[in-house]
This record gives sequence, structure tokens and C-alpha cells, in this order.
Amino acid sequence: MKIKTQVLVMLLAGSVVQPAFAVLTKAQLGEKLYFDTSLSEPAGQACASCHEPSAGFADPDQHLPVSEGVIPGRFGTRNSPSAAYALFYPTFTLKSGILGGQFWDGRAATLTEQAKGPFLNPVEMNNPDQASVIAKIQATPYAADFATVCGPFTNVAAAYQCMAEAIALFETTTMFRPFTSKYDAVKANRASFTAQEAAGLKLFTGSGKCSNCHVLGTGKNPDLFTDSKFQNLGLPRNPEIFQLRPDLPADFRDLGLGAVLNDPKHNGKFKTTHLRNIALTPPYMHNGVLKTLKDVVHFYNTRDIPGVWPAPEVSENMDGAFLGNLGLTSAEEDAIVAFMQTLTDGYVAP
Ligand code: HEC
Ligand code: HEC
Repeated sequence: MKIKTQVLVMLLAGSVVQPAFAVLTKAQLGEKLYFDTSLSEPAGQACASCHEPSAGFADPDQHLPVSEGVIPGRFGTRNSPSAAYALFYPTFTLKSGILGGQFWDGRAATLTEQAKGPFLNPVEMNNPDQASVIAKIQATPYAADFATVCGPFTNVAAAYQCMAEAIALFETTTMFRPFTSKYDAVKANRASFTAQEAAGLKLFTGSGKCSNCHVLGTGKNPDLFTDSKFQNLGLPRNPEIFQLRPDLPADFRDLGLGAVLNDPKHNGKFKTTHLRNIALTPPYMHNGVLKTLKDVVHFYNTRDIPGVWPAPEVSENMDGAFLGNLGLTSAEEDAIVAFMQTLTDGYVAP
């Protein structure tokens, strides 16, 4: 009762000044950590640097196929996916068909496991160990809040785990799942598709065969356009990556799920991504080899037509049922692109 009255008073007061003793919630702590560029070695890179809200929570450096780490000139081998809506990928499982997990290859089972990686990755935030990350947090203005939520800095392993949980919790807040696209407005009868967008949706679920993998809703989940399963689309390798990474052997192949499971049956398979905000996050695919949404649809439409595309990077285990030679016209390709452009959040009805 007492708490209720307090909340009411705060609401009535409008812009209340935060009392000095207010402690950050765990999700608010996660927000601080997510945007803090002082937690890399050297300082300068945060999660948000490669998963920037205005860039669909992917890398704003869209001219690069893969992201650059905090050390200039250091590159990974994969394109940054969106961190938004990632909360909806189920925990990685080998049961009921392999599905879910974080990263293109599902190698982190959950968001919490995922968040532990970038701080220590030499091609990302480059800290030598967990203790260095925790020491950097201890030097931030929110150190006291961190200790209140996560316990003493002396217990490095527990603090590191709690840090990752806080970031993961932040990644489940509404900022990461606004559902404010034109598509959502149309579903709620607050807007209507243009004729081209409507045709695109029909092709997406029809002769374009997209929704066989990018399924609309799953169970209780809202429409995310993914089944969270893994497929080898037979994408060509991206020569740009070999330029950025002269250390890679010429015959390097990214084996994806096959490397995670150490099982050649799954070589070349990557996670079917959700398509929310997809227009904001070029380039496309795990290796950034396709530059525009038109290129993406054209690839699905023509992969198996000789001479159109270079050879696949991994030619075994390729999906042949739903793509390769769809027989779509260029106008139909454009319609599917127009439909995907309705998945961008922040739609305002004209
Ligand atoms: C240097 C750029 C960079 C930084 C910094 C970075 N990431 Fe990423 N992130 C990537 C790349 C690249 C991938 C894909 C890697 C892969 O699949 O192997 C990725 C994958 C992810 C995914 C998986 C999404 C999916 O669809 O599976 C999430 C979530 C994520 N990052 C969140 C974070 C968080 C949280 C931080 C900070 C702790 C962070 N990232 C820091 C580049 C970055
Ligand atoms: C056989 C399953 C399957 C079908 C059918 C399919 N996709 Fe995909 N899609 C995937 C997988 C798997 C990936 C990630 C592949 C990779 O990076 O190696 C992907 C990636 C994408 C991406 C890039 C995502 C990103 O963040 O870079 C777009 C866009 C896309 N698909 C759109 C479509 C459209 C449009 C269609 C229909 C014309 C379609 N897909 C049909 C499985 C499928």
C-alpha cells in the first residue's frame, strides 16, 4: 500500500528528480554497460559500436562486410547481425531439429553467454581477461551501482557473469523489440500496404518460398520471419574478407554450424536470421557478400542458373528445395524488397 502511494506521488509529480540513493535496476545497468566505450582495450569500443540503435542495432560501418575491432585494421570474418529481436531466438538445442542460439552459427546458447564473448575477443573489444573488464567497470561512474546489483568486484567470475546477465536483460527491453513497423501497423489495421508491398508479401509466402524458412510467427511469438534453424544457402565467398584478412589461407571456408558441432553434415550452415529492420542493416549474409536487398532476392531467384553467381563457398549440404531457380521476374523481386522495407521500426502513418 505504502509503495503504491509513493509510485502514485511520483507519477503525479511528473518530472521527479531522481533521489540520490536510487540504484540502477539490473537492466538499466545493462544499458550503461552496452553503451560504455571505456570497457575495451584500449578504450573506444562498446557493444553499441557494432550494434548501433540507429543502424537497426547492427554495424553503422556499412561499407565493410565485417566489423573492425577496437584495434584499427583488425577484422573478424563475419558481418554484424542485429542485436534487436535476438531475444526471440530460442536457447540453442540439438533436440527437435537443431535450432536457436546466438551468433550466425548458434555457438552461444543464450544472450547471456553471447555477451561474455566480445569483451575478450581480440578482433572486437580486445581485453586480455575477465579481471581487466571488471577493473574497468570499477573505474566507471556507475561502479557503486554495479557493486550493489552484482556484488563485490573482488569476485571476478561472479561479477563477470552478472555483467553479462545485465546486458542480456537490457537486450530484452522494449528498445530491442519495439514492433513499430509499417507491417505491424497494417496488422493492427492502422495502415495499409501499397499494391507493390502487398504483392511482395504474397510472393514472400508464395512462389518466392521465403516463409518456408523465414516463417512469420512461431507459436506464441509475434511475426519475426525466422524458424531459427540452420541452412547452407550456397553463398559465394566474399573476396573483400580476404583483402581485409591477408592472414586467411586462400582455401579458407567458413564452416558455420559444422565447425561448432564438429560434424561435416552441417558444414556451411548458418542461422536463418529474423528480418526485422532488415532494410537498415546492409550488407547481408554472414559474410556480407550481398550488398542490397535486391541482390539477396536475386540470389535466391537465380543461384542455380549457370554463370550468374560464383561457386558456393561450401558446396556440400546445400538447400535445394526452396531456392535456386524461382522464376521470379525483376518486378517480382522488387515487390519482395518493397515488402521487406515495411519491416523497419518507427513507422509513422502519413
Ligand atoms: C567489433 C564489432 C562488435 C562488437 C564490439 C560487438 N559485437 Fe556483437 N556481433 C558482432 C559480430 C560480427 C557478430 C556475429 C559473429 C558471429 O556470428 O560469429 C555479433 C553477434 C552478436 C549477437 C548475436 C545476434 C544473432 O543474430 O545471433 C548479439 C546478441 C550481439 N552480437 C550482441 C553484442 C553485445 C551485447 C556486445 C557487447 C558486449 C557486442 N555484441 C559487441 C560484432 C560486434
Ligand atoms: C532454405 C531456407 C531459406 C529460404 C527459403 C530463404 N532464406 Fe533467407 N536466409 C536463410 C538463412 C540460413 C540465412 C543466413 C544465411 C547465411 O548468412 O549464410 C538467410 C538470410 C537472409 C537475409 C539476410 C539477413 C541478414 O541479416 O544479413 C535476407 C534479407 C533474407 N534471408 C531474405 C530472404 C528472402 C526475401 C527469401 C525469399 C526470396 C528468403 N530469404 C528465403 C534461410 C532461408
